[in-house]
Amino acid sequence: MRILLLGSGGREHALAWKISQSPRTECLFIAPGNAGTAQLGTNVDIGVNDFERLKDFAVEEKIDMVVVGPEDPLVNGIKDSFRSDARTAEIAVIAPSGKGALLEGSKDFAKAFMSRHGIPTAQYRTFNKATLSEGLSFLETLKPPYVLKADGLCAGKGVLIVPTLKEAQTELQQMLDGMFGHASENVVIEEFLTGIECSVFVLTDGKNYRILPEAKDYKRIGEHDTGLNTGGMGSISPVPFATETWMQKVEDRIIRPTINGLAEEEIDYQGFIFFGLINVEGNPMVIEYNCRMGDPETESVMLRLKSDLVDLFEGVVSEDLDRREVVFDDRAAVCVMLVSGGYPQQYAKGYPIEGLDDIKDAIVFHSGTAVRDGAIVTAGGRVLAVCAYGKDKDEALKTAFKEARKIHFTDSYFRSDIGQDL
Ligand code: AMP
Ligand code: GLY
Repeated sequence: MRILLLGSGGREHALAWKISQSPRTECLFIAPGNAGTAQLGTNVDIGVNDFERLKDFAVEEKIDMVVVGPEDPLVNGIKDSFRSDARTAEIAVIAPSGKGALLEGSKDFAKAFMSRHGIPTAQYRTFNKATLSEGLSFLETLKPPYVLKADGLCAGKGVLIVPTLKEAQTELQQMLDGMFGHASENVVIEEFLTGIECSVFVLTDGKNYRILPEAKDYKRIGEHDTGLNTGGMGSISPVPFATETWMQKVEDRIIRPTINGLAEEEIDYQGFIFFGLINVEGNPMVIEYNCRMGDPETESVMLRLKSDLVDLFEGVVSEDLDRREVVFDDRAAVCVMLVSGGYPQQYAKGYPIEGLDDIKDAIVFHSGTAVRDGAIVTAGGRVLAVCAYGKDKDEALKTAFKEARKIHFTDSYFRSDIGQDL
């Protein structure tokens, strides 16, 4: 199998790590990749949204399978673009269609889909400029805090949770006035749910599905979940409250109705679904869908997936995922993110990274790195994902922190409380 993987973060390094272990993989290209993926395959300097160049490359290199990491190309319709081009129509693209990717690309679409299929989620209504006054009145019927979501993709920044009615009404007006450009032309207002979050991942061939190890991510920059939201500061898998009983509820009430709903509505979906769940008094509810794997959850999830990922992808293509086995590693896996000082706001890039060669007990995935004059330097806010196994999360975390402390670059920071809330 000649595989082209799209993306450049820790998630893609982790996917590349898993894909490159498969005996089914003949060669692996990563577009655009990072300094970590370059150690497992060949990086190709093409952007994830440059479909024409990606297709040219896929044809030239006789690619059999394209695996898509981030949401942007999915929502932009990469699957449809490959399929509608006679040169690339036969190439397997592990991805939902553009319509399927709306589960992430439009909050309103996702909420309406859940409502049609009886999938538990917060009560909501969607407003636009023409219905602003109804939106302002609707807010008055809700209890604080208020949850406002830009309908479209906003690189994780489109959700506002505000404490007072006055602020909520102001924010609604500003969102509809273009705070997030076209993405906030429609705004979903929903009931605030209280509980602990958990990310559940599924791979589907459109009919059958396989549940992958679940994970919990840590979004805030500061210890004890304080400060600004980030792309994710760490993850753990398994999640202690995701017991067999709880996961059965997730499967019965959320996963199966979602897969059946997609099939019933004839929405072409062959890829990952990320269920962002919240545990409300023992009952799982959907906070959001994503049409891809999570980052930094993938880093822990790939460590816990014993099965051959490429075999599972082949099951997606041949639509016989029900006959493929998913085996979990019994050990716990964790990921601790080393980030640049200042992130998620302003930060510097280009600092040399030292200590990578001293790592013995962790697997380090690159998130934001580059090679400069033969040396690995920082090139993003989230720089490295230090991942480790343990008999339980505490043992795994101890190892990950010990190894993380060996890595040095100017102003580096990590949260030393990952996994300690549970
Ligand atoms: P989303 O992009 O929809 O995942 O929202 C980002 C974050 O906002 C989630 O991970 C939650 O922590 C929080 N959030 C979103 N919707 C709700 C809700 N209805 N109730 C409570 N928290 C929420
Ligand atoms: N870790 C959350 C996300 O990937 O969206």
